[in-house]
Formats: sequence, C-alpha cells, structure tokens
Amino acid sequence: MSKVAVFRKEHFNAAHRLYNKSWDDQQNDAVFGKCNNPNYHGHNYDLIVKVVGEPDPATGYVIDLKILSDLIQQHVLAKFDHKNLNLDTKEFAQLNPTAENIVIVIYNILRELINPKFELQIRLYETPRNFVEYPV
Ligand code: NI
Repeated sequence: MSKVAVFRKEHFNAAHRLYNKSWDDQQNDAVFGKCNNPNYHGHNYDLIVKVVGEPDPATGYVIDLKILSDLIQQHVLAKFDHKNLNLDTKEFAQLNPTAENIVIVIYNILRELINPKFELQIRLYETPRNFVEYPV
C-alpha cells in the first residue's frame, strides 16, 4: 500500500449574498454584515481537489491530472465561474452560498464522477486567509 495524494488547483470568480430569508434585515445584518449586501459581492475562489490512491502499475499515475482538470472544468467551473451563485445556480437557489456550503456541493458533484476507490477531499479558499475543507 503506497498511497499518494495528488492535487489539482483551479480558480473561479463568483458573486454571492449571504442571508437567511426567514430572518429580518436587522438579524441578517447582525449575523452576515457586509456579506449580506443586497446587491451581492464577489470573491476569487481557489479550489484545491485532492485525490488519494495508489499509483497505477501501468501508468504510474494515481489519476491523470488532465482528466481530473477536465472533470472540474466541465462539472464545477462551468456551473459556478463568473456566476451569481444565488441567482444563477440551482445549487444555491435555496442554500446559503457560504464557503462551507460551496465546498460540500463541489465535493458531492465530484464524488459521483471519481472512482470510489479514490479518497477525495476538497479545499476552498474564499480569500487567501479564509478557507474550508471537506470532508474533514
Ligand atoms: Ni462573501
């Protein structure tokens, strides 16, 4: 068992607004502050996809990073890059687009596409200093 972790880093820009529609404006402002701006605001998200497995004896690869990159491009970035997450995506039409919820959504998308023999973990940077990881 010689497991290796391989990583692919991608990037996307998206706008969002954090709020709970069952709360009034005052409570939303108290909890979410500037992130509750009604006209939205944007982030430059860095996305790091980690895949863990044993190198294939024939190729020496755990997973072909070009294939992984294409999967992320087609199934994640195409959905979210340059989008308003609240308004333009079905994933966040009812789900608050916090970094926490975004990372879970991205994990669930990719988990269905990547062979179950691989462990998968997603890290999402909302800013250079604020980032989340799933699963833990
Ligand atoms: Ni924000």
